[in-house]
Amino acid sequence: MASLEDLIPTVNKLQDVMYASGIDTLDLPVLAVVGSQSSGKSSILETLVGRDFLPRGTGIVTRRPLVLQLNNIKIKVNEDTNDDEPYHNEEEWGEFLHLPGKKFHDFDEIRHEIEHETARIAGKNKGISKLPINLKIFSPHVLNLTLVDLPGITKVPIGEQPIDIEKQIKNLILDYIATPNCLILAVSPANVDLVNSESLKLAKEVDPYGKRTIGVITKLDLMDSGTNAMDILLGKVYPLELGFVGIVNRSQQDIQLNISVKQALENEDHYFARHPVYRTIANRCGTRYLAKLLNKTLMAHIRDKLPDIKTKLNMLINQTEKDLLSFGSMGLIDKKESKAGLILQLMNKFATNFISSIDGNSSNIN
Ligand code: GDP
Ligand code: NA
Ligand code: MG
Repeated sequence: MASLEDLIPTVNKLQDVMYASGIDTLDLPVLAVVGSQSSGKSSILETLVGRDFLPRGTGIVTRRPLVLQLNNIKIKVNEDTNDDEPYHNEEEWGEFLHLPGKKFHDFDEIRHEIEHETARIAGKNKGISKLPINLKIFSPHVLNLTLVDLPGITKVPIGEQPIDIEKQIKNLILDYIATPNCLILAVSPANVDLVNSESLKLAKEVDPYGKRTIGVITKLDLMDSGTNAMDILLGKVYPLELGFVGIVNRSQQDIQLNISVKQALENEDHYFARHPVYRTIANRCGTRYLAKLLNKTLMAHIRDKLPDIKTKLNMLINQTEKDLLSFGSMGLIDKKESKAGLILQLMNKFATNFISSIDGNSSNIN
């Protein structure tokens, strides 16, 4: 019997089936990361993954949406060995949807592949494209989570960027976050007045009552001395049902000094635990807490959307069956159609086994 912990991996599989079939009408629940350029989006994603793997640089680095599926795999203990110390398999790797079967164990290679694949579709210069790159990370150190990294909101075109670059990027972001199935992770740096937060402005356009937006305040360490973001973090400044989480990522200098993500997480824990003001809410601050909150929120969100998903999935199954039948009667069944047949089988499997069994015992999550 399927458990609630299987919800995210299952939706991930369903997502893969949808991508493979070229149909994307299901609007599966997803979490999109939105913020202005340099607000700290990539830093957050790297901390959630626990590794450095994203392209860095000035200007618009993220020029295609990156759909990042984090898959928690259990640490395998090798029972064949007779050693006193059992061998723990800490293997971590990445896989791209556009390179099926290829495992990337070197995370620098993942970065290069993202750069290469970005340039392939969006050009070598500063163009952007709506076509996503799909990357899965398998690791014993991640929580199950699917996030979409979107291009940062930018105001001023640079180099060869079209003059309407700001509008293009905003439209791309709105494309993702307008669907009610999208949770919005709205990133705002603490050293910019919240009233001017580009991410919250965009989120408000599609989620006016703040029901599916999670606020993230980065760069708490860069606020003017004597000031703090306590009121924001306590929800007294800007109303969001899911609240705000404060974060301290690696600074530019930390990165130059090659501070690891692991070390950065420890530094962040220390920052909150020792801070004269934030220590009272330290258990609700930081990237570790954010990861748990996102995992929990995404699960609850998927659970709420299951009836919808089921209805849409059944419609899709009926349509695909009809298509297959008519292709068959026209003698058009070939390799391509048998792929459709396979996809149909998979969709049926999800609709009947998994989603129904989850649906039946979904009341104990909150
Ligand atoms: P993105 O453009 O939104 O993806 O932002 P990045 O994650 O690439 O961060 C942009 C710059 O801000 C980098 O130099 C980071 O080191 C720095 N940065 C991000 N978050 C923080 C933070 O919480 N504190 C400090 N001091 N620097 C940060
Ligand atoms: Na912002
Ligand atoms: Mg970035």
